[in-house]
Amino acid sequence: MEKLETYSRDEVADPAFAHMPDVVVKPASAEEISAIMRLANRELIPVTPRGAGSGLSGGAVPVYGGILLSVERMNRILEVDRDNLVIVVEPGVVTNTINEILKDDGLFYAGYPMSVETCFVGGNVAENAGGGKAIKYGVTGRYVMGLEVVLPTGEIVQFGGKLVKDVTGYNLLQLMVGSEGTLGIYTKIILKLLPLPTAKVDLLVLFEDVPSAIAMVPRIMTNGRIIPTAIEFMDKLSVQTTCRYLNEELPYEQAGAMLLIEVDGASEAQVEQESETIGELCLEHGALEVYVADNYTTQERVWSVRRSIAEAFKVYSPVQSLEDVVVPFAQIPDLMPELDRLSEKYDVVIPCYGHAGDGNLHATIVKHPHMPMDVWEAREPEVLRDLYDAVAKLGGTLSGEHGIGSKRRDFLPMMLDRTVIALQQRIKTAFDPLAVLNPGKIFPETL
Ligand code: LAC
Ligand code: ZN
Repeated sequence: MEKLETYSRDEVADPAFAHMPDVVVKPASAEEISAIMRLANRELIPVTPRGAGSGLSGGAVPVYGGILLSVERMNRILEVDRDNLVIVVEPGVVTNTINEILKDDGLFYAGYPMSVETCFVGGNVAENAGGGKAIKYGVTGRYVMGLEVVLPTGEIVQFGGKLVKDVTGYNLLQLMVGSEGTLGIYTKIILKLLPLPTAKVDLLVLFEDVPSAIAMVPRIMTNGRIIPTAIEFMDKLSVQTTCRYLNEELPYEQAGAMLLIEVDGASEAQVEQESETIGELCLEHGALEVYVADNYTTQERVWSVRRSIAEAFKVYSPVQSLEDVVVPFAQIPDLMPELDRLSEKYDVVIPCYGHAGDGNLHATIVKHPHMPMDVWEAREPEVLRDLYDAVAKLGGTLSGEHGIGSKRRDFLPMMLDRTVIALQQRIKTAFDPLAVLNPGKIFPETL
């Protein structure tokens, strides 16, 4: 029972989103998964695929029980094809492992979710994971060149391959990416690699308040004419909480908000010049201080604070809803007053951090200790609806990187029109006529 419990939840803090599986299976091959899917279709048993369980939308939670299919044993690197700049991996490989293996080859995989040290690449593909470097490198889907997939009905098929160009039929490969484990189970993943940048500088830039920090994002690209590798944003509460959690010291005391800006490239001179330009631009526009991290140890220190924020808040404020709304990045400053309005109107705390460079923000709705639980439970959906409404008005949407899963399914009609939802449901039915694969996800129960 204890063992099953681990597979009943992901990283969503609210226990209401957990559900026990009836059985956990850990197949080691596509053929075994195929046999499981055939059985599931014959006996009408729900099957929920699962990677590392680091997701944040309930996607890997078996909401109707049944079979929990963990890919944890499928963790082999199958091939490094240096000449074609691709790597072929199984879905249970920890994302960070890919770059550790490639280090000496002068190649790298550009996907960089914040849970890179624990998440599985299969989950990254299933959620089309975004992360910290999307502004320059894009998101997971850009690097997925091919997939071997077990369809919900049990057939083993191949989408794409090692091809840079391919317009042979519909692009089902990219339909599989971000399908949240509802259209098939990946058994092999072919990823595109890039030449490893040899130089990198990180800047930690302190600002008096959130609006002045965020206003820098378009300026760096327009005035500075630089596309940085990352522009991450953390408000004071996020930095404070995480530093306390990690027993780390960053100079947050003076600052209302911080940007973590990275530039990388093929030469020291280039990244030095670009980071200087960015630093000066920030100082011209009200930055209080610019700290430079130009060696691995300090870079890891600042990034580890950034990567640990979600975990830190979960420990300090377990009654919360971690959101990943996304707006066109120049609209982020318009979203900030909305967060203030919400926290006042509903009497909740809303710390905020995230991927400022691409408009994907982790506004986290946190319960005040003084608020009774029943009040919070009634209020939380109202806050979320109000937040999503504000986001939609700014041209944004529900989720930039964590997906809909079970957590946001009831809100989907706020963002997608009925015709589009119905079309997506017909696609789901075409793949999975008996609805055995990951039921209860993405689509609302009733429209
Ligand atoms: C992050 C996770 C929560 O950006 O997506 O920290
Ligand atoms: Zn994120």
